[in-house]
Amino acid sequence: MFAASENDVVLREEHAKILGKKGELASIMAMMRQVPPKERAAVGAQVNLLREEIEATFSERLTRLARARREEELRQRPFDLTLPGRLSGGRGHLHPITQVTDELIGIFRDLGFAAVDGRDIELEENNFTKLAFPPDHPATDMQDSFWVRAGTLLRTHTSNVQVREMTRPDVKLPLAVVSAGRVYRRDDDITHSPMFHQIEGFLIDERVSMAELKGVLTAFAERLYGPKARIRFRPSYFPFVEPGAEADVGCVFCLKSDGTSAGCRVCKYTGWIEILGCGMIHPEVFRQCGLDGEKYSGFAFGMGIERVAMLRYGIPNIRTMFENDPRFLADF
Ligand code: PHE
Repeated sequence: MFAASENDVVLREEHAKILGKKGELASIMAMMRQVPPKERAAVGAQVNLLREEIEATFSERLTRLARARREEELRQRPFDLTLPGRLSGGRGHLHPITQVTDELIGIFRDLGFAAVDGRDIELEENNFTKLAFPPDHPATDMQDSFWVRAGTLLRTHTSNVQVREMTRPDVKLPLAVVSAGRVYRRDDDITHSPMFHQIEGFLIDERVSMAELKGVLTAFAERLYGPKARIRFRPSYFPFVEPGAEADVGCVFCLKSDGTSAGCRVCKYTGWIEILGCGMIHPEVFRQCGLDGEKYSGFAFGMGIERVAMLRYGIPNIRTMFENDPRFLADF
């Protein structure tokens, strides 16, 4: 039985002829009515036995045919290990913040700054006290910072790196350092995020002046946004610099030929985006960190990386950068 079926199509046809609805076994079953009731059970049992035997033979034959076919396939088409794999839906890439951070660090390295890592969890001393924050400064309030325990918090800015570097036992001047990383503040609305990124830079040497600060930041803006980049400085206050300033970069998304900026969501119609705070390192900071503020002077700046990225890519809402929606990330 079935031995002559040389492939599974023929085999299945044979199987249907015997066991199918109109098959031979079905017609035998139809004759059961003619069997005297007394013998029906015994005959029925015989028929079932027969059916089981046929099924067993069928599936054994089917397995044998399948195996033979598999072996034949393997002989004819050996598996090619050198074939390239199938791509499953696109490759990943670095987050836009990481891309911009790497680029910023690269620019400052080219300008001669050494890149260092800072700490996210910091002593109050290094985040505030040695940066000459007065004890009652609002930023030191419970409202604005994430405290890990008394005296220890998540850093509110990357300026802690200034303190860390200036107080190193092996500190050598002059010093030009750049450092990027996460910072944490408790304001949390659509234009802020409780965690964001900054890049800090500072340079300490004899006779450093505000002119060097402006020179470095202008060179930076041109490298980042092209030779037409505009940058402006406004006086501002930070406890650890004197004088202090904020710098804005001209919005590249909205400026119309007449110089106005109507309709721009990126700069909120002002034509400028504030990207950093900066200034000359305060003598009190030198004193707190044990350096000679008479002999040395220095500048420092701290830049919001999200701001730079928003201006770079025209992203109006900072939050979208932390939602990790693949439709947003795929644009970069
Ligand atoms: N640390 C300041 C801030 O968060 C920025 C800054 C850095 C200002 C260095 C001056 C000098 O916002």
